[in-house]
Amino acid sequence: MSISHFSVNACLLPICSLNGAAVTTVEGVGSTKTKMHPVQERIAAAHGTQCGFCSPGMVMSMYTLLRNTPEPSMEDIQEALLGNLCRCTGYRPIVDGFKTFCQTNDSTSILQESDDTFQADDFRLVDPTQDFIFPPELMKQSHQRMVFQGERIKWITPADLEDLLELKSQYPHAPLLAGNTTCYHGKTMQISKTVLSVKIHGDRITLSAACTLTTIKEKLEEAVKVLPEEKSEGLHALLETLGKVASKQIRNVASVGGNILSSNPKFDLCSVLAALGCSLTILSKDGSRKLNLTEGFFTAVGKTALKPEEVMLSVYIPYTKKWEFMLAFRQAQCRQFAFSIINCGMKVIFFEGTNVVKDLKIFYGGAGATLVSTRNASQQLVGRKWNDNLLTDACKLVLSEIHLPDTAHGGMVEYKKTLILSFFFKFYLHILQKLKAMGLNVAAVPPEYMSALTPLHSKLPQGQLSYQAVSVSQPLEDPVGRPNVHQSGFKHSTGEAIYYDDIPSIDGELFLVFVTSTRPHAKIISIDTTEALSMPGVVAFLSAKDVPGNNKRRWFHDMVELFIEEEVMCVGQMIGAIVAETREQARRAAQKVYVSYQDLEPVFFTIEEAINHQSFFSPQRKLERGDVDVGFETSDQILEGEIYMGGQEHFYMETQGVIAVPKGENGETDLFIATQHAAFAQEVVANALGVSFNKITCHVKRLGGGFGGKIMKIADISAAVAIAAYRTGRSVRCVLERGEDMLMTSGRHPFLGKYKVGFMNDGTIISADVTYYSNAGNTLDESQFIIEKALLHLDNCYKIPNLRGRGIMCKTYLPSYTAFRGFGGPQGLMVIESVINEVAAKCGLPAEEVREINMYRNESHTHFRQSFDASNMVRCWNECLEKASYYQRRQNIEEFNKQNRWKKRGISAVPIKFGIGFTKGFCNQGAALVNVYKDGSVLLSHSGTEMGQGINTKMIQIASRILKIPQSSIYIVETSTASVPNAIPSAASFGTDAVGMAVKDACENMMNRLQPIIEQHPKMSWEYWVRFVSFYCLKNSGYFLICYLIFFNRGPNTDVDWERSEGNAYFYFTFGVCCSEVEIDCLTGEHKNIRTDIVMDVGQSLNPTLDIGQIEGGFVQGLGLYTTEELKFSPSGVLITRGPSQYKIPTICDIPEQMNTSLLQNTSNPHAIYSSKGIGEPTVFFGCTVFFAIKQAIAAARKDVGLHDNFTLNSPATPEKIRLACADQFTQMVRCGKIH
Ligand SMILES: Cc1cc2nc3c(=O)[nH]c(=O)nc-3n(C[C@H](O)[C@H](O)[C@H](O)COP(=O)(O)OP(=O)(O)OC[C@H]3O[C@@H](n4cnc5c(N)ncnc54)[C@H](O)[C@@H]3O)c2cc1C
Ligand code: FES
Repeated sequence: MSISHFSVNACLLPICSLNGAAVTTVEGVGSTKTKMHPVQERIAAAHGTQCGFCSPGMVMSMYTLLRNTPEPSMEDIQEALLGNLCRCTGYRPIVDGFKTFCQTNDSTSILQESDDTFQADDFRLVDPTQDFIFPPELMKQSHQRMVFQGERIKWITPADLEDLLELKSQYPHAPLLAGNTTCYHGKTMQISKTVLSVKIHGDRITLSAACTLTTIKEKLEEAVKVLPEEKSEGLHALLETLGKVASKQIRNVASVGGNILSSNPKFDLCSVLAALGCSLTILSKDGSRKLNLTEGFFTAVGKTALKPEEVMLSVYIPYTKKWEFMLAFRQAQCRQFAFSIINCGMKVIFFEGTNVVKDLKIFYGGAGATLVSTRNASQQLVGRKWNDNLLTDACKLVLSEIHLPDTAHGGMVEYKKTLILSFFFKFYLHILQKLKAMGLNVAAVPPEYMSALTPLHSKLPQGQLSYQAVSVSQPLEDPVGRPNVHQSGFKHSTGEAIYYDDIPSIDGELFLVFVTSTRPHAKIISIDTTEALSMPGVVAFLSAKDVPGNNKRRWFHDMVELFIEEEVMCVGQMIGAIVAETREQARRAAQKVYVSYQDLEPVFFTIEEAINHQSFFSPQRKLERGDVDVGFETSDQILEGEIYMGGQEHFYMETQGVIAVPKGENGETDLFIATQHAAFAQEVVANALGVSFNKITCHVKRLGGGFGGKIMKIADISAAVAIAAYRTGRSVRCVLERGEDMLMTSGRHPFLGKYKVGFMNDGTIISADVTYYSNAGNTLDESQFIIEKALLHLDNCYKIPNLRGRGIMCKTYLPSYTAFRGFGGPQGLMVIESVINEVAAKCGLPAEEVREINMYRNESHTHFRQSFDASNMVRCWNECLEKASYYQRRQNIEEFNKQNRWKKRGISAVPIKFGIGFTKGFCNQGAALVNVYKDGSVLLSHSGTEMGQGINTKMIQIASRILKIPQSSIYIVETSTASVPNAIPSAASFGTDAVGMAVKDACENMMNRLQPIIEQHPKMSWEYWVRFVSFYCLKNSGYFLICYLIFFNRGPNTDVDWERSEGNAYFYFTFGVCCSEVEIDCLTGEHKNIRTDIVMDVGQSLNPTLDIGQIEGGFVQGLGLYTTEELKFSPSGVLITRGPSQYKIPTICDIPEQMNTSLLQNTSNPHAIYSSKGIGEPTVFFGCTVFFAIKQAIAAARKDVGLHDNFTLNSPATPEKIRLACADQFTQMVRCGKIH
């Protein structure tokens, strides 16, 4: 018996299916307490962890790979990690750590002019004796029927096939489960594990229905190596598709039977298997039958021709023969790990030795409710020669046969139709090429058309990092400026890092689930909780009337309701909450709370509709310099346009939640909470409970990612949970599920930018008038600050002498949008960069030339009259263009585009000037508390929160420098409102600046006070001095030296006078430049990120690897923002994209193949701690370089058909938008119904 190791998604795996399996979790791999596994060591040492929430998953995927393949290839690593998402790092450092396991890893990052970020030679080697052995007793398990009876579900694992058929006749309607990746919950039966095999015969291959997709892929890969080419033609097509189905973790459990019998048009295998001419063996107790896998087999979504008592035994795949050709295609929202929008299988058979079609089979998935075949079109093409006439007629016939009404499920109708034709075109060209290669007299594929045939494959990212090493004169024990590993890195990778939901439950703990509104605008008529309250385990239903303090709180001019009492203003608002003994009980009961509504008017969701209804929040902001109207008069040309930019979901890996523990006295409550703003949560909870702030203590150990999303919304969630704890007297936990989190907490504001710009023919911009409209949702939240930030970044790096910006916040019936990394910057900056691009297109110049012409240089003033020195920005620009070999590559791209009709490349370089800090001076403060204990150890508390950005690591580095003690003597337990009160949020890229100064001041103060003792005993140690002091303190109460200090650092006094359009909005600016190159497939809209170079001025970095982590992570989040992450709402305002299967954040294969990051050298910043600069937010905006490079590539495609390069492309540049913008004969045909 052989033992196989495979990684799985724990959330999809029914526990009963594990009978007979041994489960290894990250805790079983290694530990900091005993011995770390090399996988755990390397991901942390290579700086591959930030918040650490994804790290155990990464470790387990890599560990599994190593157990099966001790010397993996780079492709193996890519495949193993594709199903693991990380929202912080940008993947590059994770890959770097894991590449060290490859025998040949010629692409490990090369570091220049810097200390090594890690020493691969020092890594421990894999020691197989460290691995758990498979428990021998599990090998002896006999095959007998197993029955598990739960509270509501009965699970039966049959002994063998005979038993399964017996059971199926007994319980015909109990569904079978194989991998359960379709997530069935209910009475169920597991398919017998005895029917797992792939059999390779002389004339066919037989797959058992329960065979996993991984097994099938592996077996077919072996088979195609030995089978003659013509026999394996179809298998290659199947393999191409199999490699793109889901992720390795899903394929490890998903079965081919499940894929077919789910009858889900998004699933990819049916179209390929149908085109291959597969048949299915169906069994029941009464016998067997064979069914052909064609469109007729699928009767409706989720339904097939199978009778309830039948099971599928196997799939029979015939081999292809000579003169038979087969291909499969699919296109999804992003490169991989996404359901297909359209998938298809196409097979053509020719009369021997000719190009005359004998048979043609075309099947599309996603083009209808079930599998669609173009049977009539195929029949009409039989007997035709494979040439351009056939192509033209085939397109017309296929299009007329596929019925996709404008209202079709899933939308994207124009795109889907275009894909249907584009895939056929690719198929046509492939076959033409094959026929030519077989010596037939057919037209050759034109060389520039060959680009239609090559898929866009990505390799694992590689790159170069460069930063300035600390001066050789810096003492070795001084850690500031060194690339220290994240302080929690090894705890992240071993799973020892504790997040709020890891805290063990307290005796009697309850669970809370929210009841939220299902209407966008309605009056609440009644709430019926009768059924919910009668359900097992339910303790209470809470609503507005149960709030002991205030259900409303003031937020600027508005009152914000905690539980909505009368009128809901969006889907997803909190109406009440169920509190029950367990998560499941609370969840089930929450679904049984019935709210009846009376719908109200108006209801609208978009910016355009809000403008029509004049529905805005106040105030409306304006900034102006020069005379815009006069500027227009003196300009050579004037251009008007607009760009829309969609919102973004935070998608932190750890969803929002809290544990509230009532202390039993005076309303005292402890909250263990994932927040970036503990003081605000404390305030909102106190208001809701009607107690003073000092009764509420918020504890924040660490966050599994925040990105601005855990500032505001979590406060109301905490208040509701605290009320539940207060009312029940028991601790209460709430952990939002991903869908709930996305529905309730919302994300980045969508923006519409309208502009008018006047410019000279050489690209100099004379005047610009820009109006930003943000979609704020139904409450103000932080929208005002966000639109202000957009306005303050209106000029980006350009000196536009006459510039006017207006900011208008639209009030709509959507959940309220909130803070998100960059805070309006990425939206505001995007508009001005679009303007630059449009001007460049009009002037016939490269956009980068127009950027250079208009750039600030040296000492300058922003449009709100803040002075700054732009020289480092210009240095970044020059350095980035040089490092990226920009001009050479631009030429190469032009050449590439001339030679390729169906693939195009683009390159774009964009600078940034990003203001750091809060524009309200009082927010720019940090606080720190330093406790020194008698043994010399130091406990550091500060006002920041650790959410992956490494603030704790940097604070320990600073404290270590000043106290002159090793970092290991300094510890940070948590952020707590009890130790540091009234703190500001960790946001605005200002955490390190504010807190770092406070830590520095506190430690310096401490050292000053110790100075007399140090001078008395200069040869003694830190421990001695501290012991001496504590002894002295105890003996002489009132002695001047104390062992702790709390220190507040008041930061810069920033402010903006909006009436006069002037102010010092920021203390300083962080500069940088990013250059990206992409390649697009003009026929599918897919794109590949080829290379990105970033040069960033972060002053003198406190920790270069943490800063590079922020730069890369921010960039990749921006890459998602501007390309793949698209929020979709139903016509009634319900967020549809509520999980990873609909909402696509970047995966490992979306990262540029070459990713180079440099920190500008010999630079300083007099305004921040040790000359460093804030870097958390700016690089999100750099994702726009990919957007503009895509736009340039599209322009090249449009040029080939004589279209102008002035065209609108809204963000995100999804495959749909890219494809439709690459107008050609197919888009034309779809639009007009005919080919030109
Ligand atoms: C995150 C994620 C991403 C995915 N991405 C893709 C993708 O990109 N492309 C794609 O094609 N698919 C994708 N899938 C779908 C996945 O391939 C299917 O869910 C899987 O193949 C179903 O197999 P299963 O064994 O898990 O089926 P199960 O969930 O166990 O069963 C599915 C259905 O089939 C029935 N069934 C299963 N076996 C038999 C049998 N032998 N006889 C009778 N009835 C049977 C069950 O009763 C049930 O109704 C994805 C799934 C997930 C969760
Ligand atoms: S480190 Fe990967 S999600 Fe935070």
